[in-house]
Amino acid sequence: MHSCIEKILITENQISTKVKELADIITKEYTNKDLLLIGILNGSYIFLSDLSRHISIDHNIEFMKVSSYGDGKNSSGNLDISLDLQSNIENRDVIIVEDIIDSGNTLYKLNNYLLQKKPASLKICTLLNKPSRRLADIKADIVGFEVDDHFIVGYGLDYAQKYRNLPYIGILKD
Ligand code: IMP
Ligand code: MG
Repeated sequence: MHSCIEKILITENQISTKVKELADIITKEYTNKDLLLIGILNGSYIFLSDLSRHISIDHNIEFMKVSSYGDGKNSSGNLDISLDLQSNIENRDVIIVEDIIDSGNTLYKLNNYLLQKKPASLKICTLLNKPSRRLADIKADIVGFEVDDHFIVGYGLDYAQKYRNLPYIGILKD
């Protein structure tokens, strides 16, 4: 275990089992649909790549870079789009792929932004959900794990851009 980790919350095995389950749900629900996954950088890059490889229907991938977090542990609440979509999502079946929903401020604003582009459907898939921290009125449709109010890192999640490479999800030491 990394020396900055207090405790492993979700093991590599638990993550991989869950990601396959989520991919199966998506495969079943989106058969014969024009599926587009939008990965939210940077946090979702590992989750998206594992999820995509287990979805067995054809689909497209796009990335957006949006944030409401700086380098610290608190949300600024403002949505900043630094990488926008490269394709038209009108009439397509879109799933936003997130690493974690915390306050929900990022997703709330992103969801409204994408709805204006008139997708056929728009859902949210998140690996992790921290419902106790929710401020915005937003709910994920496909959720991997519900977690308590800890600051966690690994499997794409960072603290000050570090620890994304850890294969498990752990609670960061203070
Ligand atoms: P929200 O707008 O407060 O929901 O923040 C969402 C974003 O904050 C996520 O996509 C993460 O990048 C980041 N974030 C929230 N909680 C954590 C955490 O516990 N560890 C690492 N990043 C987090
Ligand atoms: Mg982040």
